Amino acid sequence: MKNTYIAGTGGYLPEKRVSNQDLTKGLDTTDEWIFSRSGIRGRRIANEKETSSYMGARAAERAIAAANLTPADIDMVIVATCTPDLAFPSTACLVQKQLGIPQVAAFDLQAACSGFIYGLDIATQYLRTGCAKNILLIGTETMSRILDWKDRSTCVLFGDGAGAVVLSTREEPGILWTKLGADGNYQDLLYSPNLCLQPEVVKSQKYIQMSGREVFRVAVKTLEQVANEALEQNNLTRGEINWLIPHQANVRIIEGVAKRLGLSMDNVVLTLEEHANTSSASIPLALDQAVRDGRVKRGQLLLLEAFGGGFTWGAALIRH
Ligand code: ACO
Repeated sequence: MKNTYIAGTGGYLPEKRVSNQDLTKGLDTTDEWIFSRSGIRGRRIANEKETSSYMGARAAERAIAAANLTPADIDMVIVATCTPDLAFPSTACLVQKQLGIPQVAAFDLQAACSGFIYGLDIATQYLRTGCAKNILLIGTETMSRILDWKDRSTCVLFGDGAGAVVLSTREEPGILWTKLGADGNYQDLLYSPNLCLQPEVVKSQKYIQMSGREVFRVAVKTLEQVANEALEQNNLTRGEINWLIPHQANVRIIEGVAKRLGLSMDNVVLTLEEHANTSSASIPLALDQAVRDGRVKRGQLLLLEAFGGGFTWGAALIRH
């Protein structure tokens, strides 16, 4: 079996920044409420041109260049998204077309906020067995298009953006361990309807529906359990991980996981304050930021973890 690793990273954020203060103009909320409950100060919002495929393609260009490859070297495209441009063709096919990637397999993967970790796990299987050499994995979301901008309990929490990685093989171990889970019994706590298939959905419920408090409770419990498993199953002691790169939904959830891992917040890559929750894009965006600003270095041990609609969850331990 071959060893797999992250050969290059890339990110893309829309230009338009919307602050908490901006949101108070049309909504009964405050900067203080949003920041104290979630850790969010601002988010980027896509314009008309910035679809999930457009942003994903821009992030992918940067990841391919960082890996010293060209689009012709890519032999599989996986896009994690819950906000595809179209029901079909997949966003992956649209990215493939935009970048001129050859006629290789391209598909979307839907695991809400855990999509990037799911993609990492799937890509690793293809690379390990030698069925692929360089896989492009993207997390890209236009969450702003599935939000009810009059619902203060959801719209203040999300943002738009894309992150990408190229996964390849090398001599030394890179992606050391992945773990996925799901429980569809929690469907009603967090979902987004499909209006074509559910014409009966009433207007007020056609956007993201979330029971925030309940989601919070299960997310904390599940992610702390996953953190324990990451340590136990890899014979690691608390404090041994260099960087926690979590899904960015709520700083209070992230603090709980860091504590469980024996890490201070100085060892956590936090983008939430400026990106808000970009669902499947949040981990690759955070990873890209920390790689490019020099915090994450080759040889360091990273733990990535996510939780989202489904419920779905996952984690990956990586020697960068
Ligand atoms: N501004 C002001 N007040 C608000 C706002 C707002 N934007 N939104 C809600 N409130 C009010 C509520 O109406 C409620 O008022 P009430 O007590 O009079 O009914 C009060 O604030 C408190 O609401 P809570 O739900 O108790 O607030 P909580 O401390 O739980 O924080 C939050 C809410 C931030 C949503 C939190 O529960 C959370 O982060 N949940 C998890 C989100 C998450 O992890 N999602 C998973 C990933 S998303 C995905 O997969 C797509």
